[in-house]
Amino acid sequence: MTLQAYLHGYSPQEQLRLVEQAEYWKETILSDLPYKPGESLLDVGCGVGAVLGVIAAAHPTLSLAGIDLEPRQIIAAQKHLGSLGVVRPDLRTGDASALPWADHSFDHAYMMWFIEHVRKPLEILREVRRVLKPGGTITMNETEYSAYHVLPKSDDWDHLEQAMHLHFDSHGNANAGLQLGTLLVKAGFSRITNSLSGCHFFSTPECDALQAHTSYTADYLEPAIPEFVRLGFDSERLQRGVKHLRTLHTSPDGSFTQMVYRARAYA
Ligand SMILES: C[S@@+](CC[C@H](N)C(=O)[O-])C[C@H]1O[C@@H](n2cnc3c(N)ncnc32)[C@H](O)[C@@H]1O
Repeated sequence: MTLQAYLHGYSPQEQLRLVEQAEYWKETILSDLPYKPGESLLDVGCGVGAVLGVIAAAHPTLSLAGIDLEPRQIIAAQKHLGSLGVVRPDLRTGDASALPWADHSFDHAYMMWFIEHVRKPLEILREVRRVLKPGGTITMNETEYSAYHVLPKSDDWDHLEQAMHLHFDSHGNANAGLQLGTLLVKAGFSRITNSLSGCHFFSTPECDALQAHTSYTADYLEPAIPEFVRLGFDSERLQRGVKHLRTLHTSPDGSFTQMVYRARAYA
């Protein structure tokens, strides 16, 4: 079993944040999906169904399924997908390392910001391969929490970044993105690619993309400060690190860079 607490928790605010997050990453979610009308898709670690909702809007004839450890997420996913008019999604509470579907049930599988939260990704990926039809695809999106670049530099941001990294590692894997390719090899997938893209934003009077991204990032780091303090980090420095992030766009030298890894493979 791979059960452990989900580090962001399950508050209504966090559930709403997941919906807003999927909207924010919409282009990344949808880029280059090889889905045909009428095919089936399983979202593993589907949370509140936010990513499924984005995919459903672009591919309305797919038949959708999702699984999450937490019953509250599945209840929220039913509500969210219902509000979008998605017809009878097959949503289940359960552990992704023991998927409750028969072999060769799905044409496609999807994961977003999920592998970073688990300690034993390989057993999950083997399960996903089992429930995919031969030739079915898996698409995975992850990041690398030790490679956020923030300018101007700040000791307080460095303190916050170290806390973020340790916190993710204590629940799952802070650098999951780097390992997607080799994990997929070990799980028996073929035709594997793992592409590094990412995003880079800088201060400019012409657009507020830097502020949008730093606010998005600060919104998932700030609620975790009490946890970071429990891990031994200094509360005041962490608060100052968040403030540095939130005000980066006011510095003429402000910029923020984050890596994003997107893997694709075939069962
Ligand atoms: C960051 S959320 C991502 C949800 C969704 N993929 C998204 O991007 O909105 C991660 C989810 O993985 C779930 N989770 C963690 N470990 C799991 C496991 N072993 N099996 C199924 N779900 C799991 C958590 O409950 C949480 O809802």
